[in-house]
Amino acid sequence: MAKTHKHKKLYIKTWGCQMNVYDSNRMVDILSGLGYENVDTPDDADMIILNTCHIREKATEKVFSELGRLRPHKQAKEAKGGKMLVAVAGCVAQAEGDIIMDRAPYVDMVFGPQVYHELPEMVLKASGDERVVNTEFPTISKFDSLPKEHTIEGASAYLSVQEGCDKFCAFCVVPYTRGEEYSRSAVEIIEEARRLVDQGALEIILLGQNVNAYHGEGPDGKTWNLADIIHKISEIEGLERIRYSTSHPRDMDDDLIAVHGEIEMLQPFLHLPVQSGSDKILKAMNRKHTSDFYREIIAKLRKTRPDIAFSSDYIIGFPGETEEDFEASLQLARDVNYASCYSFKYSARPGTPAANLKEAMVPDHIASERLARFQALINEQQTAFNKSCEGKTLPVLFDRHGKKAGQLSGRSPYFQSVYVQGNERLLGNILPVKITQAFDNSLTGEIEIND
Ligand code: SAH
Ligand code: SF4
Ligand code: F3S
Repeated sequence: MAKTHKHKKLYIKTWGCQMNVYDSNRMVDILSGLGYENVDTPDDADMIILNTCHIREKATEKVFSELGRLRPHKQAKEAKGGKMLVAVAGCVAQAEGDIIMDRAPYVDMVFGPQVYHELPEMVLKASGDERVVNTEFPTISKFDSLPKEHTIEGASAYLSVQEGCDKFCAFCVVPYTRGEEYSRSAVEIIEEARRLVDQGALEIILLGQNVNAYHGEGPDGKTWNLADIIHKISEIEGLERIRYSTSHPRDMDDDLIAVHGEIEMLQPFLHLPVQSGSDKILKAMNRKHTSDFYREIIAKLRKTRPDIAFSSDYIIGFPGETEEDFEASLQLARDVNYASCYSFKYSARPGTPAANLKEAMVPDHIASERLARFQALINEQQTAFNKSCEGKTLPVLFDRHGKKAGQLSGRSPYFQSVYVQGNERLLGNILPVKITQAFDNSLTGEIEIND
């Protein structure tokens, strides 16, 4: 194929999970073949894509306010005789495609997370002044038609291995916005991993809504699990680090737990969402496991990989949550002792079973007060974990500039942000850093020069 001259500007804004970041990167790859070049401002762009997230209420409103802000840019471009295509992609698009089309008549394209490989056709239609809504769940996977070329993703690269979810937790929109669980073939994943490493990736983060539910076709005709994938890609020459996210406790099988002890480059940090420490609430959430089951997995992982650190997600104020249930969440967090942890106030999502539990809703002021108490505990744990790193030397993968001049930023094995002063040619390397100071959300240190 002849190289296309890049003469059109594409601006993408991404919300939500890492899978959306992966999808945005892939959209850039597809549109690059149509002559679009990625830019970091909406001014004068030829196409704007908002890649959206529907997981909590405020996300949808953010999309509409962003659309409102972009409208003058589109009008300004049109006043000069130009054209700016505005697209809403991702999970809000999937769930509320028609509402977006009605509420924002200047939106040209709305498409869900499973059809962005059809962008060339959609762009053609929209360029001809047709408004496009595409929220199908196609039978052929988008992965089969994505371009092989990747935009350079840097030293740390995402790789989606699994999509969608069949678990139907009572509060969650993901099974509706992403569709049913699907695993890519192992060969496809290994090839993509090789290409990323060839382009300079030192770290690969395997992604999925339930990445450890992975069960794809292996090159030997057998079904491979995530442990098999990790073993295989750990053999790629030049790859230094592997991570995976996000996992479900029920899919933490013995093979995967064992891999944490077998593969050194699998980083000693795991994000393992639990949502609640109360068995009654876990049941109402349809999580299908108890808090002790979660404690056992944590204990097994610590036995296999003694330096492993954990993070999690908790929902505070799920319908029916009493003070006692909430205290069980505090207790579970105390028992695990996280390196970091996200907590969210429950938000009722249309179409999910929990949205019908209106009588059991926890009053907002109580939910807010519990959230503050939970976050205070987590801040304490996170700060203590960060403090425990002071004086240690940690390998840091530097992949971006820091906020201050001459500053570089990278990630420790425990996924902490680490800032140092250093020359930008050090970006894209893993270097030993002596940690000098710990803060609530980051570390600072000095690169150790080995003679
Ligand atoms: N697949 C992952 C979660 C993906 S969604 C898992 O099973 O753990 C990311 C996080 O958003 C969830 O872990 C949950 O804590 C939060 N979340 C999802 N739906 C929510 C809702 N309705 N209200 C508040 N938080 C929610
Ligand atoms: Fe949502 Fe539950 Fe599926 Fe996670 S496992 S994506 S929380 S339904
Ligand atoms: Fe959000 Fe969709 Fe990811 S709802 S969290 S962008 S799967």
